[in-house]
Amino acid sequence: MSRYELRTARSVYVVAEAPEGLVLEHWGDPARVPERPSVRRASFETAADVAPLEYAAAGTRYTQTSELLVEGPVDGARLQLRSVTHADGSLRAELADDDTGIEVVLHWRTSLEHDVVERWARIRSTRHEVALTRAFTAGWNVPVGPGARVTQLVGTWSREFTPAEVDLPAGQLRLGSRQGVTSHEYSPVVALRSRADPGEAYGVALAWSGSWRMQVDAVPFRDVVRVSAGVDDESTVITLGPGDGYETPRMLGVWSADGAAGLANAWHDYQRGTLARPGDRPVVYNSWYATGFDVRVEHQLALADVAAGIGAEVFVVDDGWFAGRTSDRAGLGDWHVDPEKFPDGLKPLVAGVLERGMRFGLWVEPEAVNPDSDLYRAHPEWVYRAGDRPLTTMRNQYVLDLGRPEVEAWAAAMLRRLLTEHPISYLKWDMNRAVTDGGRPGGPHGREWTIAHTRAYYRLMRLLRDEFPHVTVEACAGGGGRIDNAVLALSDVVWPSDETGPRGRLAIQHGFLSAYPPSVMSSWVTDEPDRLDTAPASLEFRFVVAMAGVLGIGSDLLAWDTATSDRARELVALYRELRPVIHAGDVTRLGEPGEAHYAVQYTAGSRVVVLVWRRPGDGPVRVRLAGLEPGAQYRFGEEVLHGAALRVGGLTVPFALAPDCDVVVLDRLA
Ligand code: GLA
Repeated sequence: MSRYELRTARSVYVVAEAPEGLVLEHWGDPARVPERPSVRRASFETAADVAPLEYAAAGTRYTQTSELLVEGPVDGARLQLRSVTHADGSLRAELADDDTGIEVVLHWRTSLEHDVVERWARIRSTRHEVALTRAFTAGWNVPVGPGARVTQLVGTWSREFTPAEVDLPAGQLRLGSRQGVTSHEYSPVVALRSRADPGEAYGVALAWSGSWRMQVDAVPFRDVVRVSAGVDDESTVITLGPGDGYETPRMLGVWSADGAAGLANAWHDYQRGTLARPGDRPVVYNSWYATGFDVRVEHQLALADVAAGIGAEVFVVDDGWFAGRTSDRAGLGDWHVDPEKFPDGLKPLVAGVLERGMRFGLWVEPEAVNPDSDLYRAHPEWVYRAGDRPLTTMRNQYVLDLGRPEVEAWAAAMLRRLLTEHPISYLKWDMNRAVTDGGRPGGPHGREWTIAHTRAYYRLMRLLRDEFPHVTVEACAGGGGRIDNAVLALSDVVWPSDETGPRGRLAIQHGFLSAYPPSVMSSWVTDEPDRLDTAPASLEFRFVVAMAGVLGIGSDLLAWDTATSDRARELVALYRELRPVIHAGDVTRLGEPGEAHYAVQYTAGSRVVVLVWRRPGDGPVRVRLAGLEPGAQYRFGEEVLHGAALRVGGLTVPFALAPDCDVVVLDRLA
């Protein structure tokens, strides 16, 4: 039996040829690769019923849920292995069903630079027109069974990335979105641990930003829990004519010997090293919370004065700068500088920002349109609609059918014009509603709208990278409505939530950091009171929360007194000094944000940075630091402390910065 080993930095993924097809033989610790695969089965089960297939199609003997559902002259596909090509870090397998002419090519890819296994598939119909009612990317046989503890990141607007752990002894857990965006409700990533021995952990993610579905199938009494995912099988049907093919989005799987903490860092290593572009993420001042739609040049420049003074590196004008945009009821789609607000064009504002030593940034929402806009009046046929049903608005807007080539071309031209006409070097790309009317009446591929839309979105994001590489791109969707590994590969930072109240934000960031890195986690200091998180917190507390990722400021700076601005300047300078460690370091979340105190530790090279928050009235705080060398000594201010003592006894936090938070910096002595 041939077996194929794919190595990652710290793990191995072993696939073997069995009579039933390609099966997973081992995934995890390279020191524990079994001699032979062991699949438990009774005499009345065939091996094909239970084999941990890497990809299953309905139509085979395999009895569990399948990744591929085909409807055509003959339903289902009896996939047989045709050939396998294996090299270091890559595996390719061809499967085919001779009866129906369905062909599937499976791909695996790994690297010694990180721990992620990437997988995707290409499906082709060679003979007939067929409908793929489910075309998932892959099946992952996660060896934690029977059953699993599954952690998901769930939420709603302003409450994204809340960890929710499910004990799944048996049964199926399905999560996903049919909103055309990743969604606020579920993130396409799960963590799995054994119910009996929760030491090691596996993560599985789908890198896709349109409608999606992920299924965790804890088949009773099996050693593996099967995770499959792909484009949503509830709202999407892919039609393939003879000779047509479809390539799935990628799925990513990762193993860590060190539980949830190890998993988070394994994701971060991959996202930082493989997905992200190199370069610093700048300190942003965004005037949205200070001005709303009331954008005026003099007022923006007055804000820019203070922003530059406290150390902001980019000044971003959010919503409200374009024609007719006096509220969220009009103007979306008309991406021309508003002649009333800017009688001399954008130039005086941009020049003023650049003169103050900052870069200039702008907000756009290219996928949406207000009914009250010139664009909609000219092209009412460009928006999604479900048959003749009346259109519905959310936030007074429709969604453009970006999958139409003419709409994509319009968006590309608009972006090129904006970025060529003005020296913009930061773009915040927003998407403020779910697609509820997805469809294209009369279009033969109408039920593939989310695929067409998402691919067009990716092409446009790639256009920004390729043609305007100096532009930092922030991805946003009414907060964290479209964050996933595909977006991370095409943007520089993401906006995890519209919630900026510091305790609410801390909870969101805690969940975010379990699957995504601090180097992309945009976070702003804003004024009190927050809409949801209304208890007061010190300015320092709010700054330290935002420092945990990519610091930004969204306050009304003209309402700050000099003492506040001076303090802000010190805090921005502190952040800029520590930014390399915060963005590149290993992250350990110490405790839970709802507890009396909570900390996040970043370790890079010889430097350790710990951000600590505590509730008012909480007593002395000792934080047990993670991953320090027990034999090493660490300098902390005037003191020298032992690694072993910091790990076991912990560090007494002085709260030198403020009574409710601190920033602790330790340097390992040579
Ligand atoms: C969304 C974003 C906000 C802001 C507004 C502007 O809600 O998440 O940050 O840009 O849109 O309308």
